[in-house]
Amino acid sequence: MCGIVGYVGENRATPILINGLLKLEYRGYDSAGLAVVENGNLAVMKNKGRVSNLEELDGINNLTSTIGIAHTRWATHGRPSAENAHPHMDNSKTFAVVHNGIIENYNELKDFLISKGYTFYSQTDTETIPNLIHYYFSRDEKDDGDKFLRAVRSACNDLKGSYAIEVISNLSPNECIVVRKDSPLVVGVGTNENYIASDIPAILPFTKNFYLLDDNELTVIKKDSVFFYDNSLEQHNKAIKNIEWDALSAEKDGYEDYMLKEIFEQPNSIRETIGSRLKLGEECNFDDLEFSKEYLENLNKIYIVACGTAMHAGLVGKNIIEKLCKIPVTVDIASEFRYRDPLVDEKTLCIYITQSGETADTIAALKLAKSKGSKTLAISNVIGSSITREADYSIYTHAGPEIAVASTKAYTSQVVLLAILAIHFAEILEASDKETLENLKTDILDLPTKIGAVLDNLDDLKEFAKKIYTEKDMFFLGRGTDYNVALEGSLKLKEISYIHSEAYAAGELKHGPIALIENGVTVIGIITDSKLVEKTISNMQEVITRGAKTLVITNQNLPNTHFDYVIDIPNTSSLISPILSVIPLQLLAYYISKYKGLDVDKPRNLAKSVTVE
Ligand code: M6R
Repeated sequence: MCGIVGYVGENRATPILINGLLKLEYRGYDSAGLAVVENGNLAVMKNKGRVSNLEELDGINNLTSTIGIAHTRWATHGRPSAENAHPHMDNSKTFAVVHNGIIENYNELKDFLISKGYTFYSQTDTETIPNLIHYYFSRDEKDDGDKFLRAVRSACNDLKGSYAIEVISNLSPNECIVVRKDSPLVVGVGTNENYIASDIPAILPFTKNFYLLDDNELTVIKKDSVFFYDNSLEQHNKAIKNIEWDALSAEKDGYEDYMLKEIFEQPNSIRETIGSRLKLGEECNFDDLEFSKEYLENLNKIYIVACGTAMHAGLVGKNIIEKLCKIPVTVDIASEFRYRDPLVDEKTLCIYITQSGETADTIAALKLAKSKGSKTLAISNVIGSSITREADYSIYTHAGPEIAVASTKAYTSQVVLLAILAIHFAEILEASDKETLENLKTDILDLPTKIGAVLDNLDDLKEFAKKIYTEKDMFFLGRGTDYNVALEGSLKLKEISYIHSEAYAAGELKHGPIALIENGVTVIGIITDSKLVEKTISNMQEVITRGAKTLVITNQNLPNTHFDYVIDIPNTSSLISPILSVIPLQLLAYYISKYKGLDVDKPRNLAKSVTVE
């Protein structure tokens, strides 16, 4: 949940650490801190609140050290406060640690350390780590150059749970040791300087060359070297990966907020998702997949498992796969799937969708399906993310870094990728006629231009947002795949405007929710499937009769109706219409949040990636 940055080099560490933290605030923003080795001692500075509060601390600008670690926190154990902020030190102030993740056995470790005379000053699970390192360090009688490394290794062997940690020590002032397990961590390589981060954008302005660390790999970073060790402290080599994201794409690029920037990036992010996978007149091409006709024919079902917005993308994907491939698809919420003892086996293909690739429930759900013999396919936006190391196959959305907590471009790229995947499977299976597939390919290739048209036509949407931004409740209605978009529109609104909203399959209205419709309530309808137009219109009429204010998003020529606002979007195949119809809903949520004066990019209580249960 939190963000980690580290630096070992020749320049002052503090400005680099703060700069990195500011880029990672979307991962956690209830407190921030840093530690450096200053004149032979550890200097730790931390404060509650945003990184700007850390920057304001007296003396922070006087730190001259060229090595340091830093952290921005999203509280799990212990309330947001300066004491609970990272870094944490051991009692002797020899080791400083920052940590992402959760140490599940911290109570046990704490009791053990207390029994050995250690005292704890915070309510965090993290504080056990520097003290454990100290415990092992002080008992190691071999006083060679590897003593620090051995102590970190021994401490990690005692930890249960997930972690990405950085450790520095005043006894070893030229090196930083880092380890990850089920939590992201990368090392950025420079000239006479190296960087560490939980997320690439934090250090992208400094380098494009990265080591993507593996679970349980101990890494020792000095200014001119990076060494990797396994648990037996055997050293090994690792290839550098060049990440082509440019630093600017990780910045706001002139937009007021990351969310707005990311919404407007969608024509381009979708072009990137399509890449060379889909061309007219050719079969779709996935270099990394090798599903045979025989394997796909033998499948009983496909499971799509994900959380939040990614799960909503899965619902749209289900419709496309079932229609084109004639394979039943079940969509499940990862936190439900993992505890339901799901009926999956070698005749089930399990697809996991996750923007970050770090969502704890989704990763656990994948591990479960794997243990039951089913093949697993991860769809992620982050190259080398944890889920892609676990999955049998991984494909990437290539949507570029998504910084705003509310997911927008990742969703549309996920749906596009699922559509291309469905076409690919249908081609292997020969399950749909060529003309249907070719028409869908044309529609997918036209999406960037059509999204551009939606983004050019925002005046009515802004006006409607201004009318309704003070409301307390709203409803979203749709049928078929429009219902899937209604779910996503409702989630977006809740997340960033804090307005309560519900999404219903329009046909369900009469079965209960219509009791909530009264004079002045806002109802948003999505109508893009020509076969269902009349049905949804009649549901909308029912709410108008009861005094509702209405906004309709449609690609159909609607008959004369009494809707207050109609947002017209370009026509496309109903299978992929959510990619266009979701955009006005993303923007509606955005404008409402802005009118309310809220922090769009960092909504309260939410973090970008949910790396704990
Ligand atoms: O990184 P993931 O795609 O696995 O994240 C899943 C959800 O946490 C995420 O989509 C969440 O619902 C977003 N805040 C939605 O805007």
